Amino acid sequence: MQTHPLTGSLGAEITDLQLSQLSDSMFDDLCQTLWQHQVLVLRNQNLSIENHRALGQRFGELHFHPAFPGPEGFEEVLVIKNQGKANTITEVWHSDVSCDARPPSISILRALDVPPYGGDTMWADQYRAWDTLSEAMQNMLRPLRAVHKNFDIESAHPVVRTHPETGRRALYVNAGFTKHFEGMTVEESRPLLQFLVTHASQPDLTMRHRWQSNDVVIWDNRCVMHFAIHDYGDSPREMQRVTVRGEVPA
Ligand code: SIN
Repeated sequence: MQTHPLTGSLGAEITDLQLSQLSDSMFDDLCQTLWQHQVLVLRNQNLSIENHRALGQRFGELHFHPAFPGPEGFEEVLVIKNQGKANTITEVWHSDVSCDARPPSISILRALDVPPYGGDTMWADQYRAWDTLSEAMQNMLRPLRAVHKNFDIESAHPVVRTHPETGRRALYVNAGFTKHFEGMTVEESRPLLQFLVTHASQPDLTMRHRWQSNDVVIWDNRCVMHFAIHDYGDSPREMQRVTVRGEVPA
């Protein structure tokens, strides 16, 4: 397995590895590489839906999307198809289903059908988002919790969380789900939330992936946000995502 860092902050491409044929020690190496790089890109992976689900299960118990069950027999597999730009819910900086009390830790996205152009996904490094805030801002944010809401689910999480594997602190608010700080109104919260999401998605904290069929990207929602760019009109785009149930953020 070869690791090729993709940017100065996050992301690495892994070569010489087939995800359907991982020994336990290779899987351990993959996890360590994920904790280090936060997003892993693997091209030319011929995963079946069964292989995809089995890979997710190696990371832990799978998360079932609260609103969009997958195909019969694979209800934990989220199918993401082009429904038109007006209907997309992923073209916003977010961490998957952060409204859940135990939001997803790992997401594994597989490209089945990609448009002839566009349809890239971006990720942003939330360790560096936290590390690059001033000490005064960090001190102000440290005790705060924020309310995340969607799909009729609401949970409050710490604004800065500690990653259980690396012990590093990561900013944990996003534009898709975070509605307000606990004890503050939506209006009071908006300017600070907007500042934080803009700060946390500045270009030098991001990576961007141009998809090919059979690409698989694995990311850690506890330390990255992501954004799916809808710039491909009516062209078909189909992805499938398996998501691992995370811990209560702390
Ligand atoms: C997602 O938000 O998990 C979907 C990303 C994508 O479709 O590229």
